[in-house]
Amino acid sequence: MDDLLNVADYARRAQELLPPGPHAYFAAGAGDEWTLRENVSAYRRWTLRPRILRDVERVSTARTLLGHELAAPIVVAPMAYQRHAHPDGEVAMARAAAAFGTVMTLSTMATCSPADVAAAAPDAPRWFQLYVFRDEGVTRAIVEQAVEAGFRAIVLTVDAPYFGRRERDIRTGWLVPEEPNVPALAAALGAMRATSVTEHFELVSPTLSWRDVERLAGETKLPVLVKGVHTSEDALLAVEHGAAGIVVSNHGGRQLDGVAATIDVLPEVVDAVAGRVEVLVDGGVRRGVDVVVALALGARAVLVGRPALWGLAVDGERGALRVLELLRAELELALGLCGCCSPDDVTRAHGARATV
Ligand SMILES: Cc1cc2nc3c(=O)[nH]c(=O)nc-3n(C[C@H](O)[C@H](O)[C@H](O)COP(=O)(O)O)c2cc1C
Repeated sequence: MDDLLNVADYARRAQELLPPGPHAYFAAGAGDEWTLRENVSAYRRWTLRPRILRDVERVSTARTLLGHELAAPIVVAPMAYQRHAHPDGEVAMARAAAAFGTVMTLSTMATCSPADVAAAAPDAPRWFQLYVFRDEGVTRAIVEQAVEAGFRAIVLTVDAPYFGRRERDIRTGWLVPEEPNVPALAAALGAMRATSVTEHFELVSPTLSWRDVERLAGETKLPVLVKGVHTSEDALLAVEHGAAGIVVSNHGGRQLDGVAATIDVLPEVVDAVAGRVEVLVDGGVRRGVDVVVALALGARAVLVGRPALWGLAVDGERGALRVLELLRAELELALGLCGCCSPDDVTRAHGARATV
């Protein structure tokens, strides 16, 4: 694996290794995939403004996030069906995140149960991503399982009242097989059977509203983060309705094609929130310098989706850990070269819009 030096190398190797159906599902974006590409390319429209002569002999990437001590402000994003990337799936991802020193977010559509993931990395902090099902009983049972398994926050995904139209997926016609089991889906469907991803999402409720956010935040003792915020208006509503954190996300370009890159909307959200809750961003982070740009624009941390997944696909727990380590090393170098000894030293003045 020594020839894999960066996230792009892992992405290429994963494509060689994975069957076309799962690969298309993991890689796809919605529509023309314009937003998918924008998430990545928008980072190139931001430049860094390094400061010099700052004594950067000791650089640390550590940062606290919602009370957790992280090795770096890099969290693993929730992603469905990880046992189709590697047989060890979410269990391996959880171990990699724990070894790295960060939070793993377990998807509702995981191919491992919350209890399995908790057992795999008992001491590591973990968050649970929630899709609210049409069947309230199923939703309640899922949240209870996550609470019982010691998950420390609920990440409520709000950008999927309908399932984005991903044409790569339609073309391969991939059906999520009966095995491995997706525990939440088995509960919602009554039993697992091979179905399209689109069909799975028909179980998710399109009626979700701010009242549900408030109710969830009131009912669960866990902090609730709202994932899928694009605008200052909704950021303010999230704070008003009890969110403990906001994730600026467009679902990795998989839902509404045509929305702006997340890094471009981050500043308006950060300004609106004005420090009342922590703001995270995901989508398109592929290099350590991208993390510095996100920090400069006010993110407390970033989440990475596909990069961690490509690592998992290439070499299971080791691959996911190696990708996280590569990003952390790139971040450490970039911080030092920016004249910063830690993420806390990065300010708005370290980033600027590119002029070309
Ligand atoms: C294969 C795949 C599955 C995903 N599944 C979920 C999911 O179950 N729940 C969710 O909230 N977001 C899901 N996402 C979105 C990610 O959490 C995250 O927002 C996105 O991947 C970030 O963009 P990036 O892949 O460019 O890092 C998924 C993304 C991918 C690529």
